[in-house]
Amino acid sequence: MKTAAVILAAGQGTRMKSALPKVLHQAAGLPLVAYPIRAARALNCDPVVVVVGHGADAVTAAARASWPQVRTALQKEQRGTADAVRCALGELGDADRVLILYGDCPLFTAATLGRLIARVEKARAALGVITAVMPDPTGYGRMVRNAAGLVVGIVEHKDCTDAQRTIREVNSGIYLVDRAFLVDALTRVGTGNSQREFYLTDIIRMAADKGAVADLPVPAEEMAGVNNRADLAGAEGVLWERNRRAALEAGASLRDPPSTFIESTVTVEGDVTLGHGVMLGGNTVVRAGARVDGPSVIIDSDVAAGAHVKSFSHLEGARVGARALVGPYARLRPEAVLEEEVHVGNFVEVKKATLRRGAKANHLSYLGDATVGEKSNVGAGTITCNYDGYGKYLTDIGRDVFIGSDSVLVAPLKIGDGAYVAAGSVVTDDVPANALALGRGRQVNKDGRAEQVRAEAKQRAGRK
Ligand code: UD1
Ligand code: CA
Repeated sequence: MKTAAVILAAGQGTRMKSALPKVLHQAAGLPLVAYPIRAARALNCDPVVVVVGHGADAVTAAARASWPQVRTALQKEQRGTADAVRCALGELGDADRVLILYGDCPLFTAATLGRLIARVEKARAALGVITAVMPDPTGYGRMVRNAAGLVVGIVEHKDCTDAQRTIREVNSGIYLVDRAFLVDALTRVGTGNSQREFYLTDIIRMAADKGAVADLPVPAEEMAGVNNRADLAGAEGVLWERNRRAALEAGASLRDPPSTFIESTVTVEGDVTLGHGVMLGGNTVVRAGARVDGPSVIIDSDVAAGAHVKSFSHLEGARVGARALVGPYARLRPEAVLEEEVHVGNFVEVKKATLRRGAKANHLSYLGDATVGEKSNVGAGTITCNYDGYGKYLTDIGRDVFIGSDSVLVAPLKIGDGAYVAAGSVVTDDVPANALALGRGRQVNKDGRAEQVRAEAKQRAGRK
């Protein structure tokens, strides 16, 4: 059986009060629309079709970023959920059945959707639907059952009789439908309801008339759709919690789970330790045995096995090699590459620079557009002058080099292997291998002159 997924995402989401289409709002590092795409992919649904309308181009781009092979179907006017599914019928390929998901319901897991598929297969039903019992069912379609307890239809909140409005079992809007049945049923959906819309829920009654409808009840939490900002915050909270649990299950230790935030795109391996207030985002991978002390922020970075990132560090687009030591108070910017056993200490900023194996920059430095060779030592306060206001230039430091404290390295510049730069130098010319570079004023000492200088200073200040 081949299953296609159709994800409805054409609506605007007025209640978000946002210029951004609702399904592009972020939750735990991904736009809402990415979650059903990921779930559909995990179930090997193919094709995955996203129905777009409001903000079609932006929604299409976000969907493709999630999975490049995703298909889209345009629903120009939002005339109801049945109309939206109808728009996708031309994109279903050779699928035998269709899983219908919503772009604004990020909490359905592949596991739950898999159970819906199993239910439908067991019941040999033309249609299956996920339901939940809600403490407050306002706004949802209600599940209508017959005396035998079988689902016979769904009535929208606005179309309910007073008696139906008391039903607390609601429609999630997630269905698995036999394709042939769906195609036929959609031709028979009309707009005879209070909203003059094509309701997809009408096909449940049609399926019930034909035979049994399979239903899968789930906890209310998993059903939560996002209609406003409060819903978004609530759904995101659930996703953060799930991601923490996934890290714990992968074998990571979280010193303080409530203050640990792991985006849905992050990989955390076993024996990783995350401290208080660690935030991991984007395509970050923290590999086996690495330790990150909090508070720290790590985005789009790769932290290798056994590395240790100390508190108050900020990493973005960086690679930290095995057993490297970073921070406290380090800042690694895009294309910072630290090879194995590199040390980058407090108040060191690294941008587009490679520190080769065992290199050290332990205090107060800026290393931009640079390479630092194996085992070289960059002294406190060293600055690469990589920018002249117009262009960026490289500083290439060889291996076993010693850069004295407070040196200014004016790029383009090459410092050969084994060279030594005296503290406080301004280095503008290349330094040959094994040379000593001195680029500072010569020191003179004047014996006894301190007393005279003090006297002059007192006089200037008008004091005795
Ligand atoms: C729908 C169900 C309701 C269910 C609820 C669960 C119908 C008629 N009602 O109601 O039974 O309890 O979901 O959340 O189906 N969309 C389009 N094009 C359209 C209309 C909607 O793409 O023309 C998309 C929306 O962007 C949204 C989803 O479909 O992602 C659901 O639409 P929405 O209008 O929110 O349906 P509800 O009224 O919530
Ligand atoms: Ca809704």
